[in-house]
Amino acid sequence: EMMDDMTFVLFGASGDLAKRKIYPALYNLYIEGKMPHALSVVGLGRRPYTKEDFHAIIRESLETFSRRDVKEENLDEFLEAFRYFIFDAMKTESYQDLKAFIEERESERSVPENRLFYLSVAPKLVEPITESLHESGITNTAGWKRLIVEKPFGSDLHSARHLNDELTKVFQEEEIFRIDHYLGKPMVQNLESLIRPNPILSSLWNHEQIANVQITASETVGVGTRAGYYDKAGAIRDMVQNHLLQLVMMTALHHPEKLTPKQIEEKKKAIMESLRPIDENEMPQHVVRGQYEAGEMNAEPIPGYLEEDGVAENSNNDTYFAARLYIDNNYWKGIPFYIRTGKRLEKKSTRIIIEFKNEVEEDEDAQGAVSNLLMIEINPNESVGLRINLKDDGNEKFEPAYINFSKNLDAQPEAYENLLNDAMLGNSTYFAHWSEVELSWKWVQPILEAFENDTLPLHGYKAGTDGPEAAEKLLNEDGFTWW
Ligand code: BG6
Repeated sequence: EMMDDMTFVLFGASGDLAKRKIYPALYNLYIEGKMPHALSVVGLGRRPYTKEDFHAIIRESLETFSRRDVKEENLDEFLEAFRYFIFDAMKTESYQDLKAFIEERESERSVPENRLFYLSVAPKLVEPITESLHESGITNTAGWKRLIVEKPFGSDLHSARHLNDELTKVFQEEEIFRIDHYLGKPMVQNLESLIRPNPILSSLWNHEQIANVQITASETVGVGTRAGYYDKAGAIRDMVQNHLLQLVMMTALHHPEKLTPKQIEEKKKAIMESLRPIDENEMPQHVVRGQYEAGEMNAEPIPGYLEEDGVAENSNNDTYFAARLYIDNNYWKGIPFYIRTGKRLEKKSTRIIIEFKNEVEEDEDAQGAVSNLLMIEINPNESVGLRINLKDDGNEKFEPAYINFSKNLDAQPEAYENLLNDAMLGNSTYFAHWSEVELSWKWVQPILEAFENDTLPLHGYKAGTDGPEAAEKLLNEDGFTWW
């Protein structure tokens, strides 16, 4: 695909995300020839770096985090696009200087006025930066303009709406690219096309054949150094409102024909509109809130959440979340989607399991037969597997057998490569559109309130385990278990 020449304005150029993800992604796209012919990258930060310092930072980031080895022979050409501009985002006067700097580089590198603004900054800076970009005239370009924003997009329904209102004063919805890095993961992008070309799956893809859907995003890490943010956000804001609900949408997004980006957006919106709200009085039946306690991982003692640095005394913040969801549409009516996520769990694993119905299981001559499973592993491995029933060696009873295909991870692009490439091409398919974000917050809002008012039990679970028992019960009640 043809990519327009452009300026990439990066706010937060000396930040952690830039070093870990953004520079390596840009470099790998460059190696693959997926960069514009004429490109200017303007990195902004408060630290007083020179151009040489900046280039050294990028080089180090590539050496540490790039999935490909850095090749000396073309590194200079890559770096030549990058300039650093010392900048305080809160000083409105400095935006005029920024404008002049961007224009100077545009003329030096023959770049037309196409400007992509990437705000890799603290959430509270997003609004003022957008406003100042507008007031300074920087966004008043002869070509196109685009905005990439990182999560979190608001902290509840109200603040998300407010933020969106402010952003859309300057950028149109089509110009806003809200990052949800789960949507950049290759296996998540595969979901949309995994079912359609496989009739053995697509013919079964409905509530008559499927018993339930299970989506797990479990992590081994704890709160780490992020208590300041996490102790207020909790798993519900950190993982559920964005990543898990996006996985629900992508899994439920079944359609017989190839969809256009616009149709995908509309379908996802329709799924969120069909997602049954959880009433306050039914919440204890459908939602499990948990927090890790001291435990053990790899034979090492692990402190409980309340003992972690920066966590409020007696914090009732959720580090674990599980729920039973229903999508009231023709494909999914009546069958549960179970979602769960948590920190300090036994394993790092993001996966989607589809459990099929199986009436044979009840036959006497089908001893040992179990339900068929379709297993989609997203992270850390990428694989697709099927569980089927085969007779055992003595030909007496059934035993489950597994058919599995694993992708070669070395050949897979990182989520940020996919996302930056799409944003540079102007394709917003795998970004969180406002309709989805708003409906996700709307669905989550009553749960946020129940957590805040402490009307739901907070279940403890030992670090290094599978999470609270209450989450197991959620499925047992329906005759299922977590896979
Ligand atoms: C981030 C959350 O969005 O996703 C983190 O803020 C979490 O708390 C991370 O650890 C998980 O991402 P991944 O790609 O490792 O599953």
